[in-house]
Amino acid sequence: MIVRTVEADDLYKVIDIEYQNFDYPYPPEIINFLYESYRDTFLVVETNKAIIGFVIGIVQKKEGHILVIAIKDEYKKKGIGTFLMKKLIEVYEKKGITQLKLEVRTSNLAAITMYKRLGFKITNRLRHYYENGEDGFLLKRERT
Ligand SMILES: CC(C)(COP(=O)(O)OP(=O)(O)OC[C@H]1O[C@@H](n2cnc3c(N)ncnc32)[C@H](O)[C@@H]1OP(=O)(O)O)[C@@H](O)C(=O)NCCC(=O)NCCS
Repeated sequence: MIVRTVEADDLYKVIDIEYQNFDYPYPPEIINFLYESYRDTFLVVETNKAIIGFVIGIVQKKEGHILVIAIKDEYKKKGIGTFLMKKLIEVYEKKGITQLKLEVRTSNLAAITMYKRLGFKITNRLRHYYENGEDGFLLKRERT
């Protein structure tokens, strides 16, 4: 299993995993834009030449903003999401970025648990943040 920065040939697979995981996926144009603009913090995890997950981060005002992470269903709950997040945190730290933030649906227990274990803390509740009216949590992490 390796983690590496995304390449153009990976994008269709990333889009596939995005659509499998979310009711309101980022459309392909946005995924392409993120690939063009934030390649360093757009990572994929590969095993036997197949993409099984990805994470996309951006940098805004010297802060890292993690937009999305998803792992293919059959590879979930094996520590891969945590591994990928740790790699992204390393990439940010090499850029001198130690303040990280992300948003998550309040119902997304799997992700919230993973983020808390990685040192993120809930700082705000974001009322009606999502398309279906669901609240979000804002989570932040400083270098630990
Ligand atoms: C969130 C997600 C990326 C986690 O990836 P993963 O590889 O399954 O996570 P890990 O195996 O590293 O799990 C880390 C910890 O999170 C918690 N966790 C993971 N899945 C969980 C679940 N379904 N229910 C409860 N806790 C869960 C566990 O505490 C786990 O640690 P443990 O296995 O030692 O108990 C994955 O579930 C996913 O792709 N979800 C759909 C997309 C999504 O919601 N992304 C986040 C919002 S952008």
